[in-house]
Amino acid sequence: MSETARLIIGENAYEFPLVKGTENEVAIDVKQLRGATNGVITIDPGFKNTGSCESAITFLDGEKGILRYRGYSIEELAEEASFLEVAYLLIFGDLPTRDQLSKFLADIRDNSIVDEEVKKILDSFPKSAHPMGVLSSLTAALTAFNPESVNVDSEADMYNAIVRIMGKLPVLVAWAMRKKQGLPLIYASERLDYVDNIIRMMFLKPHKEFFINPIIKNALNKLLILHADHEQNCSASTVRIVGSSHAGLFVSIAAGISALWGPLHGGANQAVLEMLEAIKADGGDTKKYMAKAKDKNDPFRLMGFGHRVYKNFDPRARIIKKAADEVLNDLGVEDPILEIAKGLEKEALEDPYFVDRKLYPNVDFYSGIIYRALGIPVEMFTVMFALGRLPGWIAQWREMRLRKEPIGRPRQLYTGENHRSFVNIDER
Ligand code: SDX
Repeated sequence: MSETARLIIGENAYEFPLVKGTENEVAIDVKQLRGATNGVITIDPGFKNTGSCESAITFLDGEKGILRYRGYSIEELAEEASFLEVAYLLIFGDLPTRDQLSKFLADIRDNSIVDEEVKKILDSFPKSAHPMGVLSSLTAALTAFNPESVNVDSEADMYNAIVRIMGKLPVLVAWAMRKKQGLPLIYASERLDYVDNIIRMMFLKPHKEFFINPIIKNALNKLLILHADHEQNCSASTVRIVGSSHAGLFVSIAAGISALWGPLHGGANQAVLEMLEAIKADGGDTKKYMAKAKDKNDPFRLMGFGHRVYKNFDPRARIIKKAADEVLNDLGVEDPILEIAKGLEKEALEDPYFVDRKLYPNVDFYSGIIYRALGIPVEMFTVMFALGRLPGWIAQWREMRLRKEPIGRPRQLYTGENHRSFVNIDER
């Protein structure tokens, strides 16, 4: 294969280098395009064909349904690892030794206190506020109480900002949920590991002895791992571009939370449950909703289906579907919604509209069924996605900063009015 790409514009021929990744993907390096061609640029709405960066964090192959974090397969990590091990792997590049993991957990717990003043900000929200808006706001507000987390030019400063957000975000997640439930707001315990602390902070009832149900712990550990990173998705790209201006880590993460909230992205897990509930209320009439999803005049989409990159089964959806059966069975939960979901999936996978467009269930299609079985309110589903995605966002932000990447500033193709002179209001 030639090491360059040849571009012909009018009478002129240009050559641009081809770069190859470690999984043999090939990109045309167009860094010099505009200069070499006297102003010609590329245009690619939604960046469907455009790489924003080189990255060593996550590899996915959408055609083959492959997903790996730092070279380890998602299937192995979901079965064998703890979420905190995976967080360390994504952020620092290798699986931690036992000592490294212990220090990481200790540093996170030592930085898990959230200033009591933050509760006053939380109190200012109406109970009806969506927890994703609360979480994004409180995460940005953390900067006010941790100003040293902004200018992190040294790796030591960066590490301190990382263990702070890893420690404080689960507290904010639990507070956002418990505030709506009218329950007291608590902190992490130094006696518990990372996922145990999440469960305790979210579910502890003041009048009851608290114990960790291993079924819930294993299910949550797996779900958090499956959501931990997904290369340059909408929210990770948001975190990178906000961070590229050298804005602090906390506000970059807050921006990522906001991007994730959208129903086309992480908000889909809540939208899937609401869609399945609507189908159930409609007597389980899946055919009506399939017809709506295919009707170009109907804005309705089959939530939890389709993906920008996966044109095969989302490997995470396979794992979550299997886990949904196991968790509901282990907890003795009967959920008719699961059967509706399976029926909808079967119909879609046999329908030419979905087959021709390679629309398969994605990570969001079954996850809400497990969250609900774990006793998590539907409005908290996307918050749980954010909690899982936190280490991925951190890893992407850290990689971008360590590589000293330039501020993100795309070009555009102007299609507005040509020059015209001002007209006085009485002459318009
Ligand atoms: C996540 O990027 C990531 O990695 C994201 C994520 C992560 O881990 O970070 O994996 C998490 O966001 C998963 C996706 C969650 N969103 C949903 O489930 C919402 C429903 N799905 C879609 O809206 C859609 O599939 C997207 C947004 C996920 C992808 O959209 P694309 O890549 O822009 O594709 P498209 O909109 O151009 O669709 C191509 C065709 C269109 O039909 P035609 O114009 O060719 O006739 O497929 C159709 C679309 O109308 N289509 C759907 C559909 N998804 C696409 N039709 C019905 N139902 C759907 N769900």
